[in-house]
Amino acid sequence: MKIGCPTEIKPQEFRVGMTPNAAREAVAHGHSVLIQSGAGVGAGFPDEDYVSAGAEIAATAADVFAGADMIVKVKEPQAGERKMLREGQILFTYLHLAPDRAQTEDLIASGCTAIAYETVTDRNGGLPLLAPMSEVAGKLAPQVGAWTLQKANGGRGVLMGGVPGVGPAKVVVIGGGVVGTHAARVAAGMGAQVTVLDRSLPRMRYLDDIYSSIFKTSYASAGNTAELVAEADMVIGAVLIPGAAAPKLISREQLGTMKPGAAIVDVAIDQGGCFETSKATTHQDPIYDVDGIMHYCVANMPGAVARTSTIALGNATMPFMLALADKGWKQACADDPHLLEGLNVHAGKLTYFAVGKALGIDVTSPQVIIK
Ligand SMILES: NC(=O)c1ccc[n+]([C@@H]2O[C@H](COP(=O)([O-])OP(=O)(O)OC[C@H]3O[C@@H](n4cnc5c(N)ncnc54)[C@H](O)[C@@H]3O)[C@@H](O)[C@H]2O)c1
Repeated sequence: MKIGCPTEIKPQEFRVGMTPNAAREAVAHGHSVLIQSGAGVGAGFPDEDYVSAGAEIAATAADVFAGADMIVKVKEPQAGERKMLREGQILFTYLHLAPDRAQTEDLIASGCTAIAYETVTDRNGGLPLLAPMSEVAGKLAPQVGAWTLQKANGGRGVLMGGVPGVGPAKVVVIGGGVVGTHAARVAAGMGAQVTVLDRSLPRMRYLDDIYSSIFKTSYASAGNTAELVAEADMVIGAVLIPGAAAPKLISREQLGTMKPGAAIVDVAIDQGGCFETSKATTHQDPIYDVDGIMHYCVANMPGAVARTSTIALGNATMPFMLALADKGWKQACADDPHLLEGLNVHAGKLTYFAVGKALGIDVTSPQVIIK
């Protein structure tokens, strides 16, 4: 198969869909790889790294789209990219179609076979191609929160780990899933005193078994949450209700109970955020003040560490990319029901029920498609 990887064109996106290592593996499997010149530069991979891996370099995105049987990317194709997709071509990338009618209609019209990273599942009910970005965002959250707490950034002027004779910062993490656990581990590693709130007792049992010496857990009742948030120097929002907007757990009124200059890092902002006062910000202008509480609400946190994120994403996507290339999409999806869950569009038909429901478009079952 000819696998193509264009340069990402969404603003502030520095990741790339294929690492040189992924290209090398694809070549070793007998495939050819076409990379747009400069595609890896933002993540620290110059063209030469791809050439040494056995890939060819294409001058333009149009060359990549025209020459490839499968396009591997990071972000959803932008309008200009969608025009270059064609019938029979495989697209393997993040899509997030439910809130995006224009993209959904364009993919259906293109006749391509689009497999979305975010809906591929694993045998534990997890989302293996979303998890690496949650791990990155979770580990970044205390790092950006510590910066937000600095006086020059409007923060409380508290050092995460304290010093001998001065106590550490108090960090509260709401939601103890992938983001929350990684955030709690890093915050504790920086020396902060950390409490993780969750509503899932099995999850809290697991966290307590593994991490009780590192951080505490507390049930996320409204009362417990209010009490802990009022004492916190930093609150990290990391809840997720799959397929739904994040619940608003802290009201504007409650900001008045918090310590002046405390930091809020709302990682769940990509699902609308779990603080009433959260609104999405960018890496250029990441923080803002509401009632003396500093908010950090960047919706694409992994972009700040494009190299780590690219490699982490590549590690997760590579086995699926190789299966698609080795067997063709139909056999690969027939052999792996978790990959089949990634099928969102095929040959002019929408094949993902939640997207159909959100957009009022008829859906053909993916099981019918692969028969
Ligand atoms: N901003 C970014 O760049 C970025 C990057 C990655 C992930 N995210 C977002 O971070 C959020 C968390 O992702 P995740 O992968 O950790 O999800 P996850 O499913 O692993 O964890 C979510 C946790 O929230 C808990 N929860 C649900 N409702 C709750 C409530 N009312 N109170 C307390 N806990 C509650 C769940 O029990 C679960 O343990 C998601 O919204 C995700 O989209 C954002």
